[in-house]
This record gives sequence, C-alpha cells and structure tokens, in this order.
Amino acid sequence: MKLIFLGPPGAGKGTQAQLLMHDLNIPQISTGDILRKAIREMTPTGVIAKGYIDRGELVPDDVVIAIVRDRLQEKDCENGYILDGFPRTVPQAEVLDTIVEIDAVVDFELPNEEIINRLSGRRVCPKCNSTYHISRLDGDTCPGCGEKVIQRKDDMPETVLNRLEVYEKQTAPLIAYYKNKGSLRVVDCTGQQVEGVYAEVRKVLGINA
Ligand code: AP5
Repeated sequence: MKLIFLGPPGAGKGTQAQLLMHDLNIPQISTGDILRKAIREMTPTGVIAKGYIDRGELVPDDVVIAIVRDRLQEKDCENGYILDGFPRTVPQAEVLDTIVEIDAVVDFELPNEEIINRLSGRRVCPKCNSTYHISRLDGDTCPGCGEKVIQRKDDMPETVLNRLEVYEKQTAPLIAYYKNKGSLRVVDCTGQQVEGVYAEVRKVLGINA
C-alpha cells in the first residue's frame, strides 16, 4: 500500500504511522525525521533546513522533493510505504503525482486546543525516535531504550502557533486536492486514544482486524 498521512502538526500522524508500518511491514517515510537527522549530522540539506524548522516554516519544496525522490528509490519501498508529512504543499503533491500512484490519503483531524496540549507535552527520544506525552512518562528517560528524552525546539508555544498558521495556509489546501481525486479518507481524532484512532485508520483503509 502506498499511503499519505496528512493533517496538522501534532495530530498523531507519526504515532499512527509507527503502528501501521509494523503491521503492514512497510516503511514510514517522515520528511520531518529525515530533515532532523540531516540537521543533527550537519549535512548541506540540514544546514539549509535548520532555520526553517526552528521557525516553524516549511523547508523549500525543491529540497524536500529531492529527499523523497531519493528515498522512494530504496529497496524497502518496493511493497509500499507511508509518507508521513509529505506532501505539504500543492506543488509537492503535483510532483508526487508524476512519480507514483497513491492508494489512499488519510487526513487526521484534531482541533487546535488539543494540538497545543499534545505538542507542549511531547517528548521525543533522540536515539530510537519514539514519541511520548509527558503525562505518560515516568521520569525523563525513554521507556524503550533508556535514553534521556528531549523537547523538540519547534514544540515551543510560539513556534507551534506559527506551524498551525503555516498548515492552514500551505497544507490544508491538499484536503480539497485529494478529495477531488477521490483518495481522501478522514479520521476524526478528537478525544480519541491512540488505540481508538488506530482502529479507525484500519477501518478507513479497509484493513481487517
Ligand atoms: P514534522 O516532523 O512532519 O512535524 P508535523 O507535521 O508538524 O507533525 P508532528 O511530528 O509535530 O506531529 P504528528 O502529527 O506526527 O504527531 P505525533 O504522532 O508526534 O515536520 C517538522 C518540520 O519539518 C516542519 O515544520 C517543516 O519545517 C519541516 N518539514 C517536514 N516535512 C516537510 C515538507 N513535506 N515540506 C516542507 N517542510 C517540511 O503526536 C504528537 C503528540 O501527541 C505526541 O506526544 C504523541 O505521543 C501524542 N499523541 C498522539 N496520538 C495521541 C492520541 N490519540 N491521544 C493523545 N496523545 C496522542
């Protein structure tokens, strides 16, 4: 299955992608994770991306498109993948259309109040990439690998507000774009636990329990 996970920052795209990738045995391709790794390793792409990410703005289309184009050539993409956070602009979606035919686009909906609560409490493990909410953590170490969890710089309150504005202006138009193509599946995440959202994701994708 070739899937796109769409939705505002903090809607739970990454959390759900991690669950589905294990069940379907296909990779999660998170442009955010790839860009953060490039920043940590100080590659030329990372140097370009850092300022944009820290401000909560989108990294230029040509940079992100080049990353995805390369990643989709890798062997583990042969049987499908979950594009998590790509495309994020109409030009990105138009280029993707020339590369692959997507099976379905899952749009995760969540009101802004819940997004702000989730992102302000999010902690991530810099080693194994797991994501947690502080309310579910006992201390400040990753339950998975024991590394000290950190707060993403772009999860600071002012940056989150900017990310929400950027989402409305530049990414939300993709909802109509994919609706017109007939590939959009909507999941309302409001007040739902991770497991409840996951059941809904499987349902809209027609994956049997
Ligand atoms: P990216 O890393 O993609 O960030 P994002 O889309 O803003 O998404 P998030 O990772 O913040 O949230 P999520 O929806 O994955 O939620 P999560 O599962 O973590 O991008 C970062 C930056 O990179 C962008 O701002 C941009 O600069 C750049 N970039 C990336 N892609 C780009 C592109 N294509 N073009 C241009 N620039 C690009 O969950 C959030 C929190 O909620 C966690 O704490 C989690 O534990 C918790 N949670 C999840 N589900 C639930 C639930 N059901 N109930 C309660 N808590 C939950």
